[in-house]
Amino acid sequence: MKNTVMTFQKAKDEGNKLTMLTAYDYSTAKLFDEVGVNSILVGDSLGNVILGYEDTISVTMEDMIHHGAAVARGAKEALVIIDMPFMSYQTSVYDALVNAGRLMKEGRADAVKLEGGVEVCPQIKAIVEAGIPVCAHIGLTPQSINAFGGFKVQGKSEKAARKLLEDAREVEKAGAFAVVIEGVPRKLADMITEQLRIPTIGIGAGNGCDGQVLVYQDMLGMFSDFTPKFVKRFANIGEVMKTAVKQYIEEVQSGAFPAEEHEYTVDDSVIEKLY
Ligand code: KIV
Repeated sequence: MKNTVMTFQKAKDEGNKLTMLTAYDYSTAKLFDEVGVNSILVGDSLGNVILGYEDTISVTMEDMIHHGAAVARGAKEALVIIDMPFMSYQTSVYDALVNAGRLMKEGRADAVKLEGGVEVCPQIKAIVEAGIPVCAHIGLTPQSINAFGGFKVQGKSEKAARKLLEDAREVEKAGAFAVVIEGVPRKLADMITEQLRIPTIGIGAGNGCDGQVLVYQDMLGMFSDFTPKFVKRFANIGEVMKTAVKQYIEEVQSGAFPAEEHEYTVDDSVIEKLY
């Protein structure tokens, strides 16, 4: 059955944990969809893990639409959320509305996600009023990396913790159906989760959130540039891929591949006529 924003709310109301993973292409989305993940996030982390940038700042609307549409074609049951890239919504409510609309029409998203708290509530409200579900994202929001001065856990001081609590309450009030909490101490994420009616999805925010999200290359050992403390490696697919590719190189070089079973045949009489 298709996961919707109602599925998200029902999970929170009934105390069932939600699962979300990133994906950026058709075949990966199809695999994750088939095993029952609730939601696939086409994160702007594609800037790091797919496009090889150092951060998410350079990611464009065209990147998000291109990858989002591929994921949407592969995900039949998971709720597809596409990230709004840097400067596609911060500039004005009008820009936010136009760009959220493009992610729905051209990217075929089921919902959009944008980063920020109180300061982006007018954008959240306008997008939601246009009939587009919004997932908020607070805490260590990677698009603000330059303002934070690096990847630093957020909400450690009383002032910062109060600001995060306010952000969470305000994005809920603005109409967000869920909120991603990233890089925040567990106890603060627990407090936010208890105070909100909408589900919280944690990444580096501890076990008390209503759901979890991870970048799939991190959890599958496919990205080694940087591994945050909160990542658990569930498999080492990177090593499996390297071993397979090494074997491929060896077999092509030795002539062992392709073998007879990988070849097509033709009647000998056809070939004889060619001499
Ligand atoms: O871009 C992304 O992948 C994200 C998750 C890390 C939450 O925003």
